[in-house]
Amino acid sequence: MEEVDPAFIQEAEHRPKPSIMEGDGIPIIDLSRISIEGLVKEIGNACKEWGFFQVINHGVPFNLRERMMEASKMFFAQSVEEKRKVGRNDKYPMGYYDTEHTKNVRDWKEVFDFVAKDPVSVPVTPLENDHRLTLWTNPSPQYPPAFRATIEEYVEEMEKLSYKLMELIALSLGLHPKRFEEFFKKEETSFVRLNHYPPCPYPHLALGVGRHKDPGALTILAQDEVGGLEVKRKADQEWVRVKPTPDAYIINVGDAIQVWSNDAYESVEHRVVVNSEKERFSIPFFLFPAHCTEVKPLEELVSEQNPSKYKAYNWGKFLVNRTGSNFEKQNAENLQIYHYKLP
Ligand code: OGA
Ligand code: NI
Repeated sequence: MEEVDPAFIQEAEHRPKPSIMEGDGIPIIDLSRISIEGLVKEIGNACKEWGFFQVINHGVPFNLRERMMEASKMFFAQSVEEKRKVGRNDKYPMGYYDTEHTKNVRDWKEVFDFVAKDPVSVPVTPLENDHRLTLWTNPSPQYPPAFRATIEEYVEEMEKLSYKLMELIALSLGLHPKRFEEFFKKEETSFVRLNHYPPCPYPHLALGVGRHKDPGALTILAQDEVGGLEVKRKADQEWVRVKPTPDAYIINVGDAIQVWSNDAYESVEHRVVVNSEKERFSIPFFLFPAHCTEVKPLEELVSEQNPSKYKAYNWGKFLVNRTGSNFEKQNAENLQIYHYKLP
């Protein structure tokens, strides 16, 4: 019998509740469709009804995705000592960490984070009257060969795809296609994350990632053939598994889009269940605004009939609060968008 870590037993909230596999899955959208009107409509419906969809014919070379997955496998196959040489710390939150060795023991995974714009400016602390900025930079792992160059190439493709998707989402909200551009340009705080979920001896007690919403604008996720991502279906609040589709990317709307759209599109809960036999790899790209962005409902989308539902918040402060809380101050509650909800 495996010894079960008491941390997993206490956290009832963190245990997988039953999920369903069959039934309606998230929509699959073909981005090569000729009719832009049709595409915009499909994306708008998916954002409204699911908050999640998959895209195919997205233009990201399959070969690059495979090279990323391969590099990720090689990186994580190293010893923990080797991986910790590119480990993150309080000052530089990019790089490697395993959840077992930080205070966040709940998630059954290890991670490697890499910012899209290196270096990128962020506030030093989440405190409102502290105006100091710092720079986040990426580590340069020596193994596997050309790891950094491969990630950089991948990030470039993820940015192109995100901008394309943000244009389609803007159009679906009746906005100018470039409406969101000003929030990202140059200073975006986006990053790519390599996730490794090792086989878990007690999958009924643990989750790879507990239920959560993504805080940024969009997430573009590549998952391998093992599967395990589950999405809270808006129609009935059931957990539904996202079936791995080769070469498809899974897209979800984050909290920032929920606020910009004044709740027209909602950020949806999701989680990852673990597997007792197979390890799993996934690669999300988080499209995040520039630190100076004041996130609030867009003027065009509020009116007397539909007043603003949120007060403005500063993205950089929000981000630093969330990042810091992962490994510094476990007792403080993470900032959430509902903290900015207007009565
Ligand atoms: C995340 C996430 C899903 C996955 O990292 O925010 O939801 O399948 N990951 O790894
Ligand atoms: Ni997520």
